[in-house]
Amino acid sequence: MDFQGQHILSIEQFDREAVEQVITLAEQMTPYLNRQKRSTVLDGAILASLFFEPSTRTRVSFSSAFNLLGGKVMETVGMGASSLTKGESLYDTAQVISGYADAIAMRHPEAFSVSEFASGATVPVLNGGDGANEHPTQALLDTFTIFDELKRVGKNTKNIRIALVGDLKNGRTVHSLSRILSLFPNVEFTFVAPNALSMPEKILSVCDNAGHRMNMTQDLSTGLQNQDLVYMTRVQEERFNTQEEADLYRGKYRLTQKIYEQYCATNTIIMHPLPRDSRPEANELSDDMNRNPNLAIFRQSNNGVKVRMALFALVLGVEKQLKQHESDVNWYSNKTK
Ligand code: NCD
Repeated sequence: MDFQGQHILSIEQFDREAVEQVITLAEQMTPYLNRQKRSTVLDGAILASLFFEPSTRTRVSFSSAFNLLGGKVMETVGMGASSLTKGESLYDTAQVISGYADAIAMRHPEAFSVSEFASGATVPVLNGGDGANEHPTQALLDTFTIFDELKRVGKNTKNIRIALVGDLKNGRTVHSLSRILSLFPNVEFTFVAPNALSMPEKILSVCDNAGHRMNMTQDLSTGLQNQDLVYMTRVQEERFNTQEEADLYRGKYRLTQKIYEQYCATNTIIMHPLPRDSRPEANELSDDMNRNPNLAIFRQSNNGVKVRMALFALVLGVEKQLKQHESDVNWYSNKTK
């Protein structure tokens, strides 16, 4: 796929080869992330980071990725601080910001809003999450993590058994992840969710049309068994009409070290897009798992920077010039220790 100048809006744009292209380039970003080397290939470039919905790691990792390649970042956070509250259309905002920046990373609470915005943008727009719809860069970093972790535990990457657990209706990360995994052969999906929060038909048919096996259950202990990976998610309380309704489901599924030992196969890898909801009434992924070597969540969030560096390099057409702009790192860093 020729990425130069392209928007990254949905996993629908990707075929397997394009996913592998991103992953291969992301691997080459490791020395930069580990501060063994630096590349200033994006020196002079500007990223506009527009986050109209709460975010910590997606927003900061987009910025970190751009900075690590030598570019500068302008940020705006929250709807209240933008002219959208004055009735400006997404199209107009996109036209204006395109004049100020070389790339735009954007998150917005409404499904398909980032695509609408991109239709008015003249620079590449990367979707950092549009409502309950999609989160394509998360899916790419999740896929990177899945292959990396399976290799780490010495497992075959040709057959993947994965359980997706929690709010599968509203969770955009699991929508994009199911789409992306459907591009690979021999995936067995187990969807673990209460009936009311089950995976949308649209996504199920993508997995089904790709010929993958799918299991559905409401029972966590059943879903955890015989998996290579378990992907936990938070109840997306901000997408419910009332807090009371969300609270019916928060705390329904809780993975603790004890439950892991009881039901999970040896070396089952645990992922979560984060943030985990660590409040006692939810706590879907207990912090008593923090010492479990197969808890991949922080390796996963770190991989997000590499994947986003790769995407910026591709859409801005500098993926072959990284080394040309490489130099040593002068400051102290213990990242590789
Ligand atoms: C997720 C999101 O915002 O969709 N987080 C993320 O980007 N890493 C998941 C969530 O908020 O639960």
